[in-house]
Amino acid sequence: MTQSKDMKDLVAGFPAQLLEAIEIGEQANISPAKNPIHKVYVAGMGGSGIGADFVASFIREESPVPYVTGKGYELPAWVDENTLAIASSYSGNTEETLSSFNQFLEKGAKVVCLASGGKLIEAAKEKGLDYIQLPGGSPSPRACLGYSLVQQLFVLNKLGLIGASLIDQLRSASALLEKHQEAVKGRAQQIAALIYDRLPVIYTSGRLEPVAIRMRQQFNENGKMLCWHHVIPEMNHNELVGWRQEQSRIAALFLRSSLDSARNQLRTEITKEVVGNFAGSLMEVQAKGENLVEQAMYLVHLADWISVYVADQRGVDAIEIKVIDYLKDSLAKAGE
Ligand code: PA5
Repeated sequence: MTQSKDMKDLVAGFPAQLLEAIEIGEQANISPAKNPIHKVYVAGMGGSGIGADFVASFIREESPVPYVTGKGYELPAWVDENTLAIASSYSGNTEETLSSFNQFLEKGAKVVCLASGGKLIEAAKEKGLDYIQLPGGSPSPRACLGYSLVQQLFVLNKLGLIGASLIDQLRSASALLEKHQEAVKGRAQQIAALIYDRLPVIYTSGRLEPVAIRMRQQFNENGKMLCWHHVIPEMNHNELVGWRQEQSRIAALFLRSSLDSARNQLRTEITKEVVGNFAGSLMEVQAKGENLVEQAMYLVHLADWISVYVADQRGVDAIEIKVIDYLKDSLAKAGE
C-alpha cells in the first residue's frame, strides 16, 4: 500500500470519523468554569488549528461570546480568568501551542486540552486540567479534523455556551457525505486533472472561508503545491483589480453556497465574469446540504479528495511533510 493510498483511506474515513468523534465528545467530562466565560481563545497550528476556524464560523449566530483562533506563540492581552482557553494539538507537542498553553496557566484561564497524547496530555493530567484525548496513531494530524472540530463544539456545549443543534447537523453531514461519496470522488478527479500542474486560486464567501483555507492547506500539504484563496466580498475591494492581464497558469475555483445572500451571489457572478476573462481555467462547485455545517463538510470532503488525486497526478506522497519535520527538528536543535 503506497502512502498516497493510506491518505485516501484516511479521507474515505472522514464521515465515520465525524460519528466516532461525536461518541467521544458525548463521553467527555468537562468541569464547570470557576468564573463566568466572556470569551474563548483557541490555540492550534495547521491541521490542529483549522477546526477552530470552522467552529468560529458555525457558532456565529448562537454563541454569546466571541471565539478567536490564535496561530502563533503569543496571546492577546485580553486572555484572562474569564477566558475559556482551548489548546489543540494532535501530537500534543507543537511548540507554538505549548507556549500558548503555558501562558493560559499564567493568566488563570479555564483550560481544556485536545490532543492524542504528548506533552499537552501529560501536563493536563499532572495539573488536573480538563482534557479530551483523541484517538492516537494517525500518521497525519490534518486527517483528524473531524476529531478536533467536534470536540470543540462539545466543550462549548458542556459549558453551556451553545446548544446541541450543530452537533446534530454534523451527524447528518456524515450521512450526506456517505451518500454522495462516489459522486464527490468523481468530481474531485475531474478538478484534480485541471489544477495539478497549475496555480489554483480559490474564491468563496466569507462564511465559507474555513473551507477555502482547508482546501489551500490540503493542496499545500497533500499535493505539495502552492495555492491561494480569497473571499467575496472582501476581494472585490482589492484583489479583483489584480485581474487585468492573462494568467494562463492560474486555475480559478469558485466554491458556491445556496445560503449566500442574493447580493453576495450577484457579486460572485460579476467576479466570475472578470476572473474568467484572464484565468487559464475557471470552475465552480455548488455545495450540497441544507445548512452551513452540511455544506462546509461537503466541500471539505471534496477538497480532501481533490488533494489526494492531485498528489497522484503529481507523483508525490500525500502523507509526507519532510520539510515541516526538517523545520521542527532544526528548531528543536537550536534550543529555546
Ligand atoms: O497536518 C499536519 O501535519 C500539520 O499541519 C500539523 O497539524 C501541524 O504541524 C501541527 O502539529 P500538531 O497537529 O501535532 O499540533
